Amino acid sequence: MSRQSFPLSRVYGLLEPGPVVLLTTAHSGQRNVMTLSWHTMIEFEPPLVGLVLSNRDHSFGMLQASGECVINIPTVEIADKVAGCGNTSGADTDKFAMFGLTPELAAQVAAPLIGECYANLECRIHDTDMVNKYGLFVVRVVQAWIDPAVENPRTIHHLGYGNFMVAGERIKLDSKMK
Ligand SMILES: Cc1cc2nc3c(=O)[nH]c(=O)nc-3n(C[C@H](O)[C@H](O)[C@H](O)COP(=O)(O)O)c2cc1C
Repeated sequence: MSRQSFPLSRVYGLLEPGPVVLLTTAHSGQRNVMTLSWHTMIEFEPPLVGLVLSNRDHSFGMLQASGECVINIPTVEIADKVAGCGNTSGADTDKFAMFGLTPELAAQVAAPLIGECYANLECRIHDTDMVNKYGLFVVRVVQAWIDPAVENPRTIHHLGYGNFMVAGERIKLDSKMK
């Protein structure tokens, strides 16, 4: 296999692991939604998830203050709304109205579920030890919802610089992973 040097600034696009998500928060009578692709599973059960948020995001303060969020998983059908939520700030925009996203009541947290997303994970902050250093919030999923009618969700995956991959073919291999 031949190799050439690759810019360090583009490395994250090689490792992008999971689907781009819409993170919702609510605090002091305001709700917000931001696009987020830097997340990782940390524990099976209870499910712990690491979320990296820039402290320049309006959502950063809302998550920190409320201690809660919902990880909403969109599919390619609403890709334009996902990009829009990543290019605007809740500090001056009601993104639910602007992008036609439907906020729905969550069961255990104040942050809303997004009606257009096929899965919604209600979360509470679990560990803030690495927030100051890396913007890394570890959250615990306390309630998960899925739309059983969506059989093969075509999730979108960020490759960096506005490039995305849409989930497609599935294969099954032997695995000792749970
Ligand atoms: C595809 C995509 C992925 C993004 N991933 C992240 C991320 O993982 N963490 C982050 O802090 N911002 C990420 N952003 C940028 C935020 O969504 C953006 O700064 C947004 O305006 C923040 O909204 P807010 O100010 O209302 O919180 C991403 C944007 C896009 C388009």
